[in-house]
Amino acid sequence: MNTSRAPKPLLLFNIRQLLTLNVPGGSVPRRGTELSKLGMIEDGAVLCVGDKIVSAGKTRDALRDAWIRKHRKRVIEIDCAGKVVLPGFVDSHTHPAFVSPRLMDFEKRIAGASYAEIAEAGGGIRSSAEAVRQTGKSQLAVKVRMALNEMATSGTTTVEAKSGYGLSLDSELKSLEAIRAASANWPGTVVATLLGAHAVPREFKEKPQEFVELLCQHMIPQAAKRRLAQFVDVFCDAGAFSEQDSLRIFQTAETNGLGIRAHISQLKRTPLEKLLRLAPASLDHLDEVNESDIALLAKSTTVATLVPGANHFLGLKKYPPTRSLIEAGVAVALATDYNPGSSPTTSMPFVLSLACTQMKMAPAETIVAATVNGACALKLERRKGSIEPGKDADLAVFDVPDYREIAYWVASSKCETVVANGIVLPKG
Ligand code: NIG
Ligand code: FE
Repeated sequence: MNTSRAPKPLLLFNIRQLLTLNVPGGSVPRRGTELSKLGMIEDGAVLCVGDKIVSAGKTRDALRDAWIRKHRKRVIEIDCAGKVVLPGFVDSHTHPAFVSPRLMDFEKRIAGASYAEIAEAGGGIRSSAEAVRQTGKSQLAVKVRMALNEMATSGTTTVEAKSGYGLSLDSELKSLEAIRAASANWPGTVVATLLGAHAVPREFKEKPQEFVELLCQHMIPQAAKRRLAQFVDVFCDAGAFSEQDSLRIFQTAETNGLGIRAHISQLKRTPLEKLLRLAPASLDHLDEVNESDIALLAKSTTVATLVPGANHFLGLKKYPPTRSLIEAGVAVALATDYNPGSSPTTSMPFVLSLACTQMKMAPAETIVAATVNGACALKLERRKGSIEPGKDADLAVFDVPDYREIAYWVASSKCETVVANGIVLPKG
């Protein structure tokens, strides 16, 4: 965050449903039946001072509070009568560093073309890379910033942002620099991830191992040294990178002090055992996991991040085995996977809606998955994901009387006000 002045104290009160997500004794990340515990306070109030939450409780107690009474004149008050307030969404999987939509892919897919056929026709991830390589850092930063602003309009205050459409040393570092530039004066929080291992670029088509070496010997060390990324991601799947490549990339990331995460088992199953031994923060997609993968995930600390926007946009009938994951005790998170190929949406409420209707998650489960568990997927659980004293002042106010309406109203965000790190965002 970059603000010249500390934000004014902020009091949200008369909140019909305050979802604190603060459940005493609750495990973090939330699993099983704990995935539906919202820590709801009716007629609630939240006080934020600077960029932190100071208290969350009943409105009547807040209005009696000595500090609030003494400082009331300089406190910004937001009357939330009839509304729902929850922690800002943590969108823990996005790819905002791209230039243009992929309309040829869109039309070809509608006409029945497969992932591989689209790539052969000059589409897919590599076609986005051509555009990123030709675009300057500041122009790319404008694109990232537009995406961040749009995300905030539907309640997102923390975003994981991946590179991955540069696919060369210079263009991957440029993408990370663009993410940094776009985040610099955005009031929310951005976590950057190096996804150099998104696809093997055309010039390495005949020598993919040399690209893995470029990643391990140059991209990862330089991104780490310049503190441009906190995580390294790899697309471990058919037509992308192998399990062995992924292990090598993960080990290099760890050696360089970076966290690890992967896109995995979206198109074809990869057994999770070896990768889980390295305790990635998150494994994402997981459409093709089987029972043994689910059992291993349940025993691990790794979050399973599900991205139903991609299944929806790709026109798939199939979604990840979500109820089996939850019932086995896997820590499930939800994210947009915002990207130009498979999930061009910035809307967490839309993703929550898909999770309810297509993956049979309860509305309460989707909220926990998009806040507390999203924060865990980014290792930010001590700062983000719930409304409790000492945590970052990230709040979303929805103009609905019942939290279930957040997922109910399809593709129409009822998000009214967003507070990120104590700053009230201008209306979008
Ligand atoms: O998360 N699976 C790999 N990456 C993206 C799609 C990227 C693209 O098609 O541009 C995803 O769905
Ligand atoms: Fe993705």
